[in-house]
Amino acid sequence: MRAIVHEGKTGFEGLSVKEVERPSIGNKDVLVKVHTAGMNRRDVAVVTKRHQAEDPALIPGSDASGTIEAIGEGVTKFEAGDEVVINPGLGWQENSDAPPEGFEIVGLPDNGTFAEYYSCTEDHVERKPSHLSFEEAGVLPLAALTAYRALFTRGQLKADQTVLLPGIGSGVLTFALKFSKALGARVIVTSRSSEKQKEALALGADRAIDTNCDWNEELSDETVDLLIESIGEATFEKSLNVIRKGGTIVTFGATTDDQVQINIRQFFYGQYNLLGSTMGSAEEFREMLTFIEEEQIKPQLDRLFKLEEYKEAFEYLRDTKNFGKIGFSLKR
Ligand SMILES: NC(=O)c1ccc[n+]([C@@H]2O[C@H](COP(=O)([O-])OP(=O)(O)OC[C@H]3O[C@@H](n4cnc5c(N)ncnc54)[C@H](OP(=O)(O)O)[C@@H]3O)[C@@H](O)[C@H]2O)c1
Repeated sequence: MRAIVHEGKTGFEGLSVKEVERPSIGNKDVLVKVHTAGMNRRDVAVVTKRHQAEDPALIPGSDASGTIEAIGEGVTKFEAGDEVVINPGLGWQENSDAPPEGFEIVGLPDNGTFAEYYSCTEDHVERKPSHLSFEEAGVLPLAALTAYRALFTRGQLKADQTVLLPGIGSGVLTFALKFSKALGARVIVTSRSSEKQKEALALGADRAIDTNCDWNEELSDETVDLLIESIGEATFEKSLNVIRKGGTIVTFGATTDDQVQINIRQFFYGQYNLLGSTMGSAEEFREMLTFIEEEQIKPQLDRLFKLEEYKEAFEYLRDTKNFGKIGFSLKR
């Protein structure tokens, strides 16, 4: 089968498309013929951070939609021909405060989805929501799950609250925008791009501002109850300064830098809440699928690339040209 493989060299130089062996299936496994494989910033980070020339070859990619091609003898929930999406979180079944020991994400350390076939246990696939095309379903899993847990499980967003989403070009945050609006909350977004601000307003955002402006001045008439922070160092201080006293920041990413500064006195006087989040359990993945089906929510699909266009795709995401999700189409 054809796959995007990372090996030999650090960074994008180690990427190529090649013929590799189709994955085998065990007793409880399903073999998925991949239709669309969504890309996440994690894929850029994975190939950038694997330095060792001697690291084994890896197929990156955490998201996919497709059709079940074959099943192991012990599979009970699926049969060949079923249309599915992959849950990219491995080993986190029930809801819990944090992922259990051994939790891993598809696409590192084991092979991921940027390939014609992907295999995993039947516990890690769910039926494709019927209102979504394969293209839409393929870019859904990781980002939508992350947005769902950050907003609802961790952030406890309510319909009468205001949420601020810095960096709205993000795949995760375009889901957060649609989920928050479906709930009825007031949504403010930021972006460095005026084009992306306009696109967010067209999707229902109540207000859009420049990430580089003075948020306190610009939003002096707003009460920000919840802020979903994934940019990290570049915006963290501004985020902490703009939420109302007693308000909450949920953080799950650091696109710029991991190290941030907090004025701890200001923090405790303000009685703020700072919560970490990461993807979500299989239970939350199913809750998220039900939610998007009930609300008829579709991913913000920016662009799909062919496998051979891997360089362009990785550079597109690295340079944050995306508004929403991108991915690879493996339709044949
Ligand atoms: N912990 C988890 O489970 C988890 C899951 C998913 C994602 N993540 C992390 O969450 C982050 C977002 O993921 P994603 O896949 O949605 O990313 P993405 O699509 O690449 O979006 C990142 C956004 O961050 C903003 N940004 C980037 N550099 C910036 C800078 N220097 N200053 C200000 N804003 C900047 C941009 O928004 P504008 O273009 O609008 O300015 C960009 O669109 C990443 O760090 C990712 O690794 C973590």
